[in-house]
Amino acid sequence: MHQSSLQLWINASLFDGLESAAEPMAIAVKEGRIAWLKPVSELSVDDKSGFECIDVKGALMTPGLIDCHTHLVFGGNRAGEFEARLEGASYEEIARAGGGIISTVRATRAASEDELFESAKPRLQALIADGVTTVEIKSGYGLDVENELKMLRVARRLGRELPVRVVTTLLGAHALPPEYKDDADGYISLVCSQMIPAAVAERLADAVDVFCENIAFSVEQCERVYAAAKAHGLAIKGHTEQLSNLGGSAAAARAGALSVDHIEYLDEDGVKALAEADTVATLLPGAFFILRETKMPPIELLRRYQVPMALATDANPGTSPIFSLKLMLNMACTLFRLTPIEALRGVTAHGAQALGLQTEVGRIAPGLQADFCLWDTTNPAELAYSVGLPRLTHRVVAGKMSGGAA
Ligand code: NIG
Ligand code: FE
Repeated sequence: MHQSSLQLWINASLFDGLESAAEPMAIAVKEGRIAWLKPVSELSVDDKSGFECIDVKGALMTPGLIDCHTHLVFGGNRAGEFEARLEGASYEEIARAGGGIISTVRATRAASEDELFESAKPRLQALIADGVTTVEIKSGYGLDVENELKMLRVARRLGRELPVRVVTTLLGAHALPPEYKDDADGYISLVCSQMIPAAVAERLADAVDVFCENIAFSVEQCERVYAAAKAHGLAIKGHTEQLSNLGGSAAAARAGALSVDHIEYLDEDGVKALAEADTVATLLPGAFFILRETKMPPIELLRRYQVPMALATDANPGTSPIFSLKLMLNMACTLFRLTPIEALRGVTAHGAQALGLQTEVGRIAPGLQADFCLWDTTNPAELAYSVGLPRLTHRVVAGKMSGGAA
């Protein structure tokens, strides 16, 4: 169905990744890329010649959704920790007592590559069913060279075997492994001098990420990781200002980070630093919701300084066991007061920018990959307004139908 290499999708209510079109649009796809688009009212007979024409009858078309921040490869789960938090334990207390991230590290180290692949697959399929066509997957539960590479190999394999673009990020500096207790600098040296080079040698990582926080690594330690990543030609990102304000976002921006993520505690100087460096601010309302945080990310400041806001699931076993990017559209609006269009930009154009992929995906524009979704509505605001609906009717990756209800 709709597999010809020349397709003309007509009568779409288009949200192109940044804006909604004012009238029904026609979108031409050639060999898996968007060739051109124009209002249906301006279509000539010549325009249609040679194309397989698909009339979508007013359905909403958006770019394929981009989940630019996930940790969906992991062993075990943390339902027990969820129960402990319900009884009053905090995320920080659990982490300091050797639970939290470290408990997932134990389960991930114990799992084989095949086991990790099989457990990650339904999580990724859930995102795909929600309209995701590009997903970023981080390591960070191995915390030694062998196990970090194992996680990244699983992420690459997911990209080969499932109909989704996978971008991988090495998050060796996620937590201090037990073997390096009291020697965080020594562990950072391992990340810089062994983990990053080994990941690069096997082409397993597209970017490098860090967790800059009191319960993780200092700004100086994160800067060492950034320097090593850049020396190997890798992009950088940061988990910053999630639980406190350490200045990690500004440091990441100064180092040229694609994005800084979480950022509830970001202040005005930090926002200015992002604006100056063109670094994307990634909002993760799932973790905010699950941890019942009350400190809001500085949305008004981000707007004022025109910092692009991306939006992602942060899918992970601890702070965001949530495998729906559409739910994040609703949460970003209800919890962070984004407008539906801002939220949609966050999972399309700005999500792509957070991955450095803005010339490939995230917009419906000439030259970009023909990755798009059709929805059972005409109004983009409905994607954020409603949970569970509207239905995804078509999901197209590089011009090929791949999922959706129709
Ligand atoms: O993005 N903040 C640090 N890392 C993850 C949580 C990972 C976990 O708790 O397993 C996050 O929230
Ligand atoms: Fe995260």
